[in-house]
Amino acid sequence: MDDVQAAREPVTRAVTRLYDTYPFPPEPLLDAPPPGYNWRWYWPTVHSFCTGAKPANNQVRVLDAGCGTGVSSEYLAHMNPAATVLGIDLSGQALATATERCRRSQATNVSFRHLSLYDVDQLPGQFHWINCVGVLHHLPDPLAGLQALASKLAPGGFIHLFVYAAIGRWEISLMQQAIALVQGDRRGDYRDGVAVGRQLFASLSPENRLKQREQQRWSLENQRDECFADMYVHPQEVDYTMDMLFDLIQASGLEFVGFSNPAVWQLERLLGADPALLQRAQALPEWDRYRLVSLLDPEITHFEWFLAKPPYPRWDWSQGEQLLTARVERNPCMEGWPSQRIFNHNYEMVTLSAVEFEVLQACDQHQPPASTVAMIVAQTGASLADIRLMQTKFLILLQPSG
Ligand SMILES: C[S@@+](CC[C@H](N)C(=O)[O-])C[C@H]1O[C@@H](n2cnc3c(N)ncnc32)[C@H](O)[C@@H]1O
Repeated sequence: MDDVQAAREPVTRAVTRLYDTYPFPPEPLLDAPPPGYNWRWYWPTVHSFCTGAKPANNQVRVLDAGCGTGVSSEYLAHMNPAATVLGIDLSGQALATATERCRRSQATNVSFRHLSLYDVDQLPGQFHWINCVGVLHHLPDPLAGLQALASKLAPGGFIHLFVYAAIGRWEISLMQQAIALVQGDRRGDYRDGVAVGRQLFASLSPENRLKQREQQRWSLENQRDECFADMYVHPQEVDYTMDMLFDLIQASGLEFVGFSNPAVWQLERLLGADPALLQRAQALPEWDRYRLVSLLDPEITHFEWFLAKPPYPRWDWSQGEQLLTARVERNPCMEGWPSQRIFNHNYEMVTLSAVEFEVLQACDQHQPPASTVAMIVAQTGASLADIRLMQTKFLILLQPSG
């Protein structure tokens, strides 16, 4: 073990012990594939988000880095049957649950390995897609972890990341420090930490800001001790400001594709009532616009985003010729279909226009193989503008011909 590894070791051991005590997430194990979808776990929508088009190949290698009890790994496996998924984690207890979870739901294209993010160089080959959600901020050296992952990403591949945001977690951070103070030399006894935290909340007045925040925002999930421990008695957590996030991304050597919750980062959401001010704010450079959103909306508790290893294509579908020859299919990440009122890829209830409904119906008639945009346009009377809009709304997925 070199000096760098030795310096990280105590933190890594403490984090492992937390998740061996309280494996996370504590989702129940089912005897069937998990319900619903998350478009961030479906390769065609991930690829479409990052490039504008469906991938030519679904036989991808996927790494679920810091997979915990395997909730995401199980979805990744079931939603992408042509893919091969590998979940890695520090916690043996979490991995045991992940393995049992996937055995029960008969996810056969997934395996697990007891391995730190820092040691992914021990894995053979490269990955087309890496999912690393809720992990980097628990590493003693997040940048080293991200760089290790980046070194295993194939050119043209994508990483989805999620880290905590400092402003929105301010009250959590105060309670974390309060629990640690009261625990004193019992810090690291996570069951004691949960007990102390629950006692502290119980003793605070209903008007107390920390208590109010807990009750309004988190208490439902924090009924589970695993969630409470993950939130309040963690031995290692770095909460990111926008500037820290920018630096992390710059140093990763990868390219920022975009936030995977883009609606949150639209200035219209906050400044739409004043068009002149909005226009002025829109003129700011990209990262200053994000900084402004993060300052004006203290409710933001995390950052989630995609990074890419270039080169990778970008399709904008502005050329009619290219669009007409593209293959088109309905995005399967929707619920309630066939109906004009559906849950879209983000689980938002939306009402389809008559032409959108018609296009989706026409797409279904041709699956598989998918029809071309030209065929759908001829069949439905939709315009190319309608098709482009449906693509940006993720109602349909496009694939270039050839
Ligand atoms: C908050 S949980 C997130 C689990 C899962 N990604 C999810 O979103 O449901 C964090 C997980 O990261 C794992 N972890 C932390 N540091 C790690 C490291 N250096 N290498 C691998 N896994 C790590 C922990 O053991 C834990 O299971």
